[in-house]
Amino acid sequence: MELIELAKQAMKQAYAPYSHFKVGAALITDTGHIYTGCNIENASYGATNCAERTAIFKAISEGERHIKKIAIVSDAGKPAAPCGICRQVLSEFMDSDGIVILEIENKPKEFYLKDLLPYCFCSDSM
Ligand code: THU
Repeated sequence: MELIELAKQAMKQAYAPYSHFKVGAALITDTGHIYTGCNIENASYGATNCAERTAIFKAISEGERHIKKIAIVSDAGKPAAPCGICRQVLSEFMDSDGIVILEIENKPKEFYLKDLLPYCFCSDSM
């Protein structure tokens, strides 16, 4: 199944009683495995985890280290652009020419991570 479709499935599990903004993500790693995630909110808002990071942390905790592509969707009918923290976390495990797929006007559109996070602070920045 397309990553976008898997992200839509994952979005159904979103726990978003505060924002009512549901987000889903699905990623594929260089080993060919797929991981999905949803946003998980908390009454202490800062403890909320975004859908992208849920999927990334699931993958990393299973031993994966390299993400090739990630698709992100929301139920708002607008592109689910990843937040700054998620872009930074992605940059730890994805090459700068890794692909982020967003749904724009009902069509998947691919972006390079380097275009969403130029001049990132990465492991080779130190
Ligand atoms: N959210 C995500 O899941 N991913 C993002 O990149 C942006 C924001 C979630 C967090 C929160 O549950 C809701 O969207 C509103 O901020």
